[in-house]
Amino acid sequence: MADAVSLWLVVLGSIGALYGVANFFRVLRYLALCLRQPRDLRRRYGSWAVITSPTSGLGRSMAVELARAGLNLVLVGRDPAKLHDVSEKIARCHGVQTKAVVFDLSLVSTAEGDEAMRRLRDAVEGLDVGVLVNNAGVAKPGALYFHEAEVESLMRIVRVNLQVLTEVTASVLPGMVERGRGAVVNVGSGSAVALPSFPLYSVYAATKRYVAAFSKGLYVEYKNKGIDVQCQAPFFVETNMASSVVKSSFYPQFVVTPDACARAAVRWIGHGPLCMPNLAHQVQWWFAGFVPGVINDAYRLAKNPQHRDMLRPSPAWFFLSLVLVGGVYAAAFSFRLLAYLALCLRRPSDLRCGYGAWAVVTGPTSGIGRSVALELARRGINLVLLDLDAANLQETSDMIKSRHAVKTKAVVFDLSLVGTPQGDEAMRRLRAAIDGLDVGVLVNNAGVWSSMAYLHEVDVEA
Ligand SMILES: NC(=O)c1ccc[n+]([C@@H]2O[C@H](COP(=O)([O-])OP(=O)(O)OC[C@H]3O[C@@H](n4cnc5c(N)ncnc54)[C@H](OP(=O)(O)O)[C@@H]3O)[C@@H](O)[C@H]2O)c1
Repeated sequence: MADAVSLWLVVLGSIGALYGVANFFRVLRYLALCLRQPRDLRRRYGSWAVITSPTSGLGRSMAVELARAGLNLVLVGRDPAKLHDVSEKIARCHGVQTKAVVFDLSLVSTAEGDEAMRRLRDAVEGLDVGVLVNNAGVAKPGALYFHEAEVESLMRIVRVNLQVLTEVTASVLPGMVERGRGAVVNVGSGSAVALPSFPLYSVYAATKRYVAAFSKGLYVEYKNKGIDVQCQAPFFVETNMASSVVKSSFYPQFVVTPDACARAAVRWIGHGPLCMPNLAHQVQWWFAGFVPGVINDAYRLAKNPQHRDMLRPSPAWFFLSLVLVGGVYAAAFSFRLLAYLALCLRRPSDLRCGYGAWAVVTGPTSGIGRSVALELARRGINLVLLDLDAANLQETSDMIKSRHAVKTKAVVFDLSLVGTPQGDEAMRRLRAAIDGLDVGVLVNNAGVWSSMAYLHEVDVEA
């Protein structure tokens, strides 16, 4: 028995040590980079940079820093007066050329957005664009439970943080591929890459996870075509986005100025697919790596509402307890495994009693969606089924009813039309279909993926 216990201790200790060493090397790599001569971006990638949202915060500081490195700038922002101001100041102070493209990024995918995207394509046409900084990002309405926020404001986050970034990259990257060189910097967030969850900012954090995954994918796709793609993921930066509450309630040593962040950010361009450019943020990332997920979740759930409610700063004992539990990360991993095993051995819970008599399932006519719908019906749950093909929906609905004594409702909905008048109409039909029903389970199963191709080869609309 004693031998088994010590073996366990050795195994856990080794995992902890390996984890610590890996993190330590990350910090070492950071320090090594700080000591190296910064890259000559203009010579290596090209003479122009495109940057989105350069009129304040991090974007403005990044634009100045790129100009200081000798790059001409294409500035993409929504406010003509502010754009003119930034553009004029940068050109005057740093002797570089600038072009401004007025673009309210939240209008992407509308007629006005398409027109602005065309203007951006025209502006970069023929320029030796070496660096693209997808800095634009919004977090409004800020710290709110998902059900409290206006859907439109959440969709604006999705459009600006995710859709704009994808479309602007698709506009600039083909030129880089032709020239065989370039760097794409996508500004993500530490809240998404270093923390397992960031409650009350779930949509924002989810879009930033997309930024990290998208960057990593493109990094692999384009590395051997001479293009460096990178996600830069800072924690709190002192800008309009990080409200005064965050600044006052967060440990000030960890909140960096946009200028400091941009200086480090430009230095990191081209060094790997993911980075946290600032040292204070690196240290936070390092600490965060030792904090078990459940502790982070509880802490953030206690802390993030303070951004909204303007409560006092968190008690110091809570931070101390975080540091203490950091040491038991490996043990927490074992507990997660145990919890998984325990769940496998437990009797399945009664979903109908626990949550409600109806479930909504999107994309239930084939694959995983079909199996999930069948499994829910097997457990006595009535189903609202959403798909674009009426015949397939009917067939699935009949098949489920023939096997299980449940009720079904079918809503024909081409989910790719969401955000259009037809999509709004289908959304209304969905709301009418579930009105008055005791819907206890929602399975957002529907999902699509593009055909296998490099980003610059595929149709942006797809
Ligand atoms: N601040 C942080 O703590 C933090 C942490 C991690 C990551 N980030 C990321 O860093 C990036 C920059 O954020 P920030 O903190 O610098 O934000 P910020 O100070 O709030 O600046 C926002 C910028 O976005 C522009 N903008 C907002 N809505 C727009 C729209 N619809 N169309 C065009 N431009 C629009 C603003 O233009 P106007 O000047 O016209 O308003 C402004 O230039 C974002 O991607 C953010 O997610 C920030």
